[in-house]
Amino acid sequence: MSKTITNPLRVGLRQERVITPQCLVIFGASGDLTHRKLIPALFKLFLQRRLPSEFAILGCARRPWDDNIFRQKMKLSLQEEINENNESWLEFSKYLFYEPVDLQQDEHISRLSNRLEEIDRVQSTHGNRTYYLSVSPNYYGSGCRALSSAGLLDDPKRSRLVIEKPFGRDYSSAQSLNKLVQSCCKENQIFRIDHYLGKETVQNILVLRFANTIFEPIWNRNYISSVQITASETVGVEERAGYYESSGALRDMVQNHLTQMLALTAMEPPGHFDPEAIRNEKAKVLQSAHLANELKPWNCCIRGQYAEGGNSELPLIGYTEETGVDPQSTTETYVAMKLFINNWRWQGVPFYVRTGKRLAKRLSEVVLTFREAPVHLFDTAGGSPTSNQLILKIQPDEGAVFRYEVKSPGSGMRSRPVEMDFSYDESFGEPSDEGYVRLLADAMLGDPTLFTRNDEVEAAWRLYTPLLELIQNQSKLLPIHKYESRTWGPAASDNLLAKDGLLWRRP
Ligand code: BG6
Repeated sequence: MSKTITNPLRVGLRQERVITPQCLVIFGASGDLTHRKLIPALFKLFLQRRLPSEFAILGCARRPWDDNIFRQKMKLSLQEEINENNESWLEFSKYLFYEPVDLQQDEHISRLSNRLEEIDRVQSTHGNRTYYLSVSPNYYGSGCRALSSAGLLDDPKRSRLVIEKPFGRDYSSAQSLNKLVQSCCKENQIFRIDHYLGKETVQNILVLRFANTIFEPIWNRNYISSVQITASETVGVEERAGYYESSGALRDMVQNHLTQMLALTAMEPPGHFDPEAIRNEKAKVLQSAHLANELKPWNCCIRGQYAEGGNSELPLIGYTEETGVDPQSTTETYVAMKLFINNWRWQGVPFYVRTGKRLAKRLSEVVLTFREAPVHLFDTAGGSPTSNQLILKIQPDEGAVFRYEVKSPGSGMRSRPVEMDFSYDESFGEPSDEGYVRLLADAMLGDPTLFTRNDEVEAAWRLYTPLLELIQNQSKLLPIHKYESRTWGPAASDNLLAKDGLLWRRP
């Protein structure tokens, strides 16, 4: 008789909360994010049986589609998943509705209100609504105002608003947008999304730090000598030149995703696991962070842009040759910088942050390097003695690695580094869900823990203000360094660390 073997680490998994009856209204439903991320995430929630039967997804955009066209379009984006689950798709598609809406037009909003009431009746969604603004960031403010004027945000218990990144373009625009949005609804109705916070491994930074006793005593300037935070991508700008040209890597990745990883790595332990307690600590640490040299920011930041590269089999064009990019563009596709955190825990510990497109490898990680042993008693079996490192592997190999020295086999007493490796995939036997699965569910459940609060967003923008001002007014001081595609970025970025006697980790 065959025996079923249960992975003991999986016991207790998937006991997630079922979402309350409601209608999820997606503005920008004909856009890229809806079919690439949101609908697949909602289908996943459906397969996990987390969507209630009293549920609806109302897609809204300017295109004159109807329910059927919307269903057909969304079906195309789920082709792979549907192959195995056609029955499930047929069930799921009954949740999908569409209404042509231009948020700038009053008569469209009143038509939308009527449609929502009809959906409430047909789907029994009880007037509970989550509005997801996946439109161009230029319309976040006016979109909120339109919803608020129609009274659609009036009931704080029944209506929530999810806003995609980027939230603002700089400190002052983020402040104005916060004021405007908060004049339309209460802060606890607002869910500013950063999909990095939906990643299992990013949330694991909190668990690793605060569920274990061994890390917290050494998680400070006395034991840690430096921290590196990397998010490197192999893809280029793809079809997003229009957006990326006015954004660049600093706004696209650093102000949000990398800063969130930094906040979780550096924050103080919260008093309890409560959304406000966690967000208070994240906001506090960001308020204490600053560029390594605020008076001369050009000394602590490097900007780069990918040039052509690849090989004869896969030649890659440079950023300025991409469709939609200005051939003279000085938009950065790479940025590296050095920061400090001015508090008791981190004073004097450099945090190096880097991100780039068309780099050698797709990889996101946080690397904590510990201080060297005070005295080197042993020879090393290759190179110089290494410092201990804890590597929090965010993606694609999700897990954590601890590097430490052991005795090299043989008659002498020589040391060499080895790794203790934890892999999510090997341990739990199942790949993690996409960040949007978790975040959509949390927003619909009204749990704001993994969403950024107004003060966090503003603190993050304030941190990079000296750089943004420099790029705008004295860009010559922060020149663009070209780097060959599929390399590790400009040499100048290596110099940023070499000045401190350090190297970027190159896995
Ligand atoms: C998005 C950026 O927020 O994150 C993209 O706009 C980037 O430019 C993407 O490619 C990276 O996300 P992930 O989850 O693939 O690391």
